[in-house]
Amino acid sequence: MLTPHENPLDRAVALIRNAGHVIAFTGAGISVESGIPAFRGEEGLWKRYDPRCLEIDYFHSHAGEAWRVIREIFYDFFTGAKPNAAHRALADLEAHGRLRAVITQNIDNLHQEAGSRVVHEFHGNSQVLLCLRCGQRVPARAVDLTQLPPLCSCGGMYKPDFVFFGEMIPEKARAASFLEAERADVLLLVGTTGEVMPANLVPESAKRHGAAVIEINTAPSLHTPRVTDIYLEGKATEVMQALRDAVLAQK
Ligand code: APR
Repeated sequence: MLTPHENPLDRAVALIRNAGHVIAFTGAGISVESGIPAFRGEEGLWKRYDPRCLEIDYFHSHAGEAWRVIREIFYDFFTGAKPNAAHRALADLEAHGRLRAVITQNIDNLHQEAGSRVVHEFHGNSQVLLCLRCGQRVPARAVDLTQLPPLCSCGGMYKPDFVFFGEMIPEKARAASFLEAERADVLLLVGTTGEVMPANLVPESAKRHGAAVIEINTAPSLHTPRVTDIYLEGKATEVMQALRDAVLAQK
């Protein structure tokens, strides 16, 4: 894709400016600079916590233990996290008509808080708890998490309304994500290892339907050799700001 002298960033900017339908697909790496640790890698959460706590069967059989891990990761860590310059750069590109949608694997709500309007949450959102008995959904901030597992007024147990390993992807988000992937002519792939199914099929689908893939990451991912056309190594805040500035600078 690159002629020897072309700067990858300039090539990426040209692709975005000439595109008709740009989308972004993001993972935990875009929120690392907001203080939320990624799941994998040297400092990854799965080095410190047992990922079984996010498996739906284990959650049902070890609710108290699973909830203690879930509270620490998704309610203690997440609370207070703010969008960073990478989230804001995507929101700016959307506001200027240069980005149609964000598809995110993240459940931290930071894209919405940064101002992105079209956000498809492939793994749901940690802001809501669901009662497993009566089906009531309540804001997580309205529930006292000092007593675990938290119980609904009906006596049923609350589960965070995000996708656990072994659960189905919410149909609305799944369908919208693959529809966007089929329409995209450029996909910005930001901060994901590409290790988790079926989310990792979204960039593959975009590529199969003709999209050019621009990957932003601090290290190569499983996607890099398979779908990436332009690999921009670096922190999401730095690369996304440079991309946003260059794309929006030219009239
Ligand atoms: N800027 C850009 N990329 C970064 C940064 C950064 N500052 N820091 C880390 N990364 C990259 C890492 O190189 C890695 O590729 O972010 C990625 C983080 O990978 P994971 O922790 O595996 O996150 P993700 O790919 O989103 O995981 C997918 O796994 O545990 C489940 O449901 C959870 O949605 C999550 C899914």
